[in-house]
Amino acid sequence: MDKTGPTLRAGTASTKSPLAGSRMEGAGAAGPRPETKRARSVCIVSGKGGTGKSSVSASLAALFGRRGATLLLDADLGCANAHILQDVHPTHSFADVIAGDVGVADIVTPCANGVDLLAGGSGFARLAGLRSYELEMIGRGLEQIEPGYEYLVVDSAAGLSRQTVAFAAACDVTVLVTTPDVTAMTDAYAFLKVFVRQCAAQGIERPMPLIVVNRASDEVEAAHVAQRLQDVVSKFLGLPIEFLGFLPDDRAAFRAMQRRATVVDGEPDSELARALSTLSCSVLARLARVPSPGAGLRLARGGDWGRES
Ligand SMILES: Nc1ncnc2c1ncn2[C@@H]1O[C@H](COP(=O)(O)OP(=O)(O)OP(=O)(O)O)[C@@H](O)[C@H]1O
Ligand SMILES: [Mg+2]
Repeated sequence: MDKTGPTLRAGTASTKSPLAGSRMEGAGAAGPRPETKRARSVCIVSGKGGTGKSSVSASLAALFGRRGATLLLDADLGCANAHILQDVHPTHSFADVIAGDVGVADIVTPCANGVDLLAGGSGFARLAGLRSYELEMIGRGLEQIEPGYEYLVVDSAAGLSRQTVAFAAACDVTVLVTTPDVTAMTDAYAFLKVFVRQCAAQGIERPMPLIVVNRASDEVEAAHVAQRLQDVVSKFLGLPIEFLGFLPDDRAAFRAMQRRATVVDGEPDSELARALSTLSCSVLARLARVPSPGAGLRLARGGDWGRES
């Protein structure tokens, strides 16, 4: 049995790529760098907005930070808010990197308890539609600083943009957050469909995202939601996806956010904090099983992920 879970193979799901073959881990223009340790990376995505990506990312980063240096990358570029839950006021963001004023290493903002932040920049519409070479530039900068971290957590933008898929495809593991809302489930499926198609078009093999059901009333409801999504993905994409875990609907999320704290730090005794702790163990177990050449390397390798024109 494949212990790394379901893997998306190039050319699956009626997404024939014009590119011959597929790029394997460690291959590519930048070449393998086996001698350098890279941060193990997880990308949190959803499709629909407001499903809890930033809340989950912030708590995972806080929990990982207790184990080793952790970098939180706010990939909600132009509409970023991960700095709020870290209670920091970054002076620089990816807006400055794209403007060519500074490098990625220059925008690292130290937060508390072993977590550093790469801020996404707020109020810059241009950042939501980067070109491929700009994503590669971010990848090269990330590659330089990744060896200083054990873990990288990427908090994604909502939606199906090519750059959101690029960040997801760059990370070792992708977690797809949905809620029981039918609109969130529909958009979760839409994300999976686009992810599968774009990875195939790029000719790369990536593991399928793992489902997390947030704001569920209980485990039974979460399992039901996951099963419905699994059935649709199996029927229309012909691929299996795994249910990683569930998070309860809990007012602690709101209370922590109001205090600019993560749930695990600000509401440590809540049911949600306990579930996040369980989820972080599941993510860590996944990260231990998959290759980790570095998210920066995967982004820097290039590909037609950016805005067209
Ligand atoms: N398990 C939960 N229980 C109750 N409320 C939650 C839970 N998770 C998140 N929320 C609330 O949902 C709202 C949206 O959360 P969050 O900002 O993390 O979502 P998001 O997916 O990052 O949104 P966006 O797509 O805008 O970036 C917040 O008010 C947050 O407190
Ligand atoms: Mg968010």
